[in-house]
Amino acid sequence: MKKLIGPFKQIITLRGIPLKGPIGDDQLEIISDGGLLIENGSILQIGAFSKFEGKFEVEEIKSDLVLLPGLIDSHTHMCWGGTRAEDYALRISGATYQEILKRGGGIHESVRKTRKSTPEELTNSLRGRAMRHAREGVTTVEIKSGYGLNVQDEIKMLEVIASIGEQLPINIISTCLAAHVRSKEFEDNRTYLDFIVNSLFPDLKSRKLTNRVDIFVEENAFNVEDSKYYLSQARKAGFELTVHADQFSTSGSRLAVEMGALSADHLESTAAKEIKLLSASNTVGTVLPGASIGLGMQFAPARKLLDAGACVAIASDWNPGSAPMGDLLVQAALIGAYEKLSTAETFAGITFRAAKALGLSDRGTLESGKLADLIAFEVSDYREILWHQGKLKPCLVWKEGNLIEND
Ligand code: NIG
Ligand code: FE
Repeated sequence: MKKLIGPFKQIITLRGIPLKGPIGDDQLEIISDGGLLIENGSILQIGAFSKFEGKFEVEEIKSDLVLLPGLIDSHTHMCWGGTRAEDYALRISGATYQEILKRGGGIHESVRKTRKSTPEELTNSLRGRAMRHAREGVTTVEIKSGYGLNVQDEIKMLEVIASIGEQLPINIISTCLAAHVRSKEFEDNRTYLDFIVNSLFPDLKSRKLTNRVDIFVEENAFNVEDSKYYLSQARKAGFELTVHADQFSTSGSRLAVEMGALSADHLESTAAKEIKLLSASNTVGTVLPGASIGLGMQFAPARKLLDAGACVAIASDWNPGSAPMGDLLVQAALIGAYEKLSTAETFAGITFRAAKALGLSDRGTLESGKLADLIAFEVSDYREILWHQGKLKPCLVWKEGNLIEND
C-alpha cells in the first residue's frame, strides 16, 4: 500500500551529486514543504507535498522538520566484550596506542575479554549499542569481527552480529577482521594468515556469515607483503575487500587501491602520494574522526582528498580501544569543522558515499527507487543540524518506511 509522509519543511535529497570530489552547498537539492510517497519500504516519488495531498493515506508531520537520508556508518567494531578503560587511562597519561599493543595489551586485551564473553553477553551489549545508533539516525551499519582471532571466537562474533541484524530494525553489514593482529597462539604472521584462509574462510562462505574481509596493515599488525597475499586469497575466495590503511604509517592505502578494495579506512597518515593514488581510483577513502579524537591525533586529510577528487566517507570506527565514543554525527561535525568540509560534503560522507564504501547502491540518497531510510531533525534550515555539532539528534527515524520506536 502507498503511504505519503510529510509535509517536511525541507527535504535534502542528496541526489544528483557526483560520487567523487568536492561538493558545494549550492549543489544540494532542497525540496521545501516536501512529501515522500512510499511503497513496500522504498521511495516511489518525492516532491511538493501539495502534489500528492488528498490522494494517499498520510503519515502527517505536524512540526517543522528537515529530512535527510538515514545515516550509514560504514566502519565499526561495535561487538566486543569488557571495556578498555585501563588502556584509555594509560593513553591519556601519555602511553601510545602502539606501545600498549606491542606489550600485549590494546586489541589483545579486547580479544581476551571477547573470548571469555558468552554469545548472550555479546548479544546484549551489541544490541544496546546498535539501538543507540538506530535512535541516533544510523539505519545501516557495518560491524567487524576481529576480537576472536581463532575459528571459534571469530564465528561466535559473526553469529552474534548476524543475530542482531535479524532482531533490530536496521541493516547490519558484517566484515571478517580475523586479520586484526596475529593471535598470540601463532609464531609468525604468514602461518596465522594461512590458518585463517584455510580454516575460517570456507566456513564463512558456506554458512554465509559475511562476504567482506578486512586487514589491519600497520606496524605491530600486518606488513604489506603478507597483507597482499592475504587479500589475494580473500579475493580468490570471493570476498569483497576493505583495508585498515595509513593509520600510523603509509602503504596500506596503496595496497587497497592495488587490490581493488571497496575502501581504505583511517588515512590519518596519508600524504600527497597516497592522496593521488586514492583519488585516481574507485576505492573510497573512509576517514575515522572518532579514532583521531580517541587517540588525540591528527584528523585524516579529508579536505585534500576531496580536492584531489577522491570519494570520502566518514565513519565512527566505534570500538573499545581507539574510538569508544561511537557518535557518528558528533564526529562528522567535528572533522567537518577542522578539515573545512561543506555541509554537503559532510552529509555525503555519512550517506551515499558511505553506501559506496559498502558496495550498496540502493540507499544514501532520497529519490525514487531508493530505500525509505529517513531521519528528521526538529529544525527549519538544514544548516542548523551541523551547527549543533552533532548534539541535536534526529527526532524521527524510519527504516524502509517504518518508524523506529524511540524507547
Ligand atoms: O580501527 N586500528 C585498528 N583497529 C581499530 C582499533 C581496535 C582496538 O583498538 O580495539 C581501529 O582503530
Ligand atoms: Fe577500525
